[in-house]
Amino acid sequence: MKYHHFDEEDLQACQRVLERGQLCSINGPETQAFEAEFAAEMGAPLAMAICNAMAGLHCAVVASGAQFGDEVIVDPLVVFASLGALYHRCIPVYCDVDRETHLMDPAKLPDVVTDRTRAIIVTQLWGMCADMDAINAFAREHDLLVIEDCAHAIYASYDGRYAGTLGDIGVYSFQQSKQMALGDAGMTVMKSAEHRQIMEEMTTFGTVPARLGWNYRINELVSAVGRVQLTRAREYVRICQESAAHYNEAVADCEWIVPQVAQEGREHTYHIWAAVFEGEDYGISRDQFSEALSRHGVALNVGYIGRPAYAQDCIAQFLDDEPHCEVAEYLMPRLLISGTGGDPAQHAENAEKLAAAIESL
Ligand SMILES: Cc1ncc(COP(=O)(O)O)c(C=O)c1O
Repeated sequence: MKYHHFDEEDLQACQRVLERGQLCSINGPETQAFEAEFAAEMGAPLAMAICNAMAGLHCAVVASGAQFGDEVIVDPLVVFASLGALYHRCIPVYCDVDRETHLMDPAKLPDVVTDRTRAIIVTQLWGMCADMDAINAFAREHDLLVIEDCAHAIYASYDGRYAGTLGDIGVYSFQQSKQMALGDAGMTVMKSAEHRQIMEEMTTFGTVPARLGWNYRINELVSAVGRVQLTRAREYVRICQESAAHYNEAVADCEWIVPQVAQEGREHTYHIWAAVFEGEDYGISRDQFSEALSRHGVALNVGYIGRPAYAQDCIAQFLDDEPHCEVAEYLMPRLLISGTGGDPAQHAENAEKLAAAIESL
């Protein structure tokens, strides 16, 4: 099967919706079916479709019962969890990540929890799940809701269960660059009917909302195509895993490029292949490495967004003090990132060029 593709089956789904004439998802049969099919596929008790993952994170923070000014623990490598907290005027508080996995480090949670903390948003970054047993245990002890940002992690698994079903609420993105792509859309899964109710009240209102509502709905055309794409998403993920394997192979003998370490019992879905440049310890500067990449025509992002989420202007302006996450600050400028979508043959070629660039140093 090819990566992301739309065919006759998707067209028929659109035609079915247009002939029915109902495009809004309120009581929409396609959206209801999409939610039920997604929940069944992930092994989640409940699901609610939504316009995108950011909206899903916002709704999940509200479902946690957090009030304006409360704190939400987030991880610092990407901005999305922090923004989700800020949308509800909560304060993002930063738990550092583990150097090998790039994922929230539960050992650091005791340093950042306070009596104002209401939730933890864990990013299942690049396509791998964090140490959810430890995070859930800590959350239970402190009565916190666990929200999983699974924008990178559809079908990532942890002890046989899928990302999104490990905490209390899981949020997925179907934005175009993701492994299941619907242009812009998202899905949320949850265990509690009460959480779903709160999130639905935020997502849909006609005249006067039951609570501060945002009309974050998906629409029936997107849901209908989503039902088709869901039947292909597992294969899209497999294709990404195949592409990522080329990069892992290219750096296997290089001591100064350390790929994100996949942990025992967790299936990494490789939405993104990520590694850390440690060349400085071997007398190779980042500039030298970047030059070698250009010389060999390697498509590889060096440094991602440069600084942790809390040092980005869109977030820093709302924080009283600048937090300090030592591991995140080490990792950020050294992250090497490649998408894995598209044709594995092209990734194989890019990975060969990467191996040649490494060899040249
Ligand atoms: C980790 C993560 N969370 C959330 C989002 C937001 O997704 P969406 O575009 O569906 O709002 C993204 C988008 O790139 C993401 O990478």
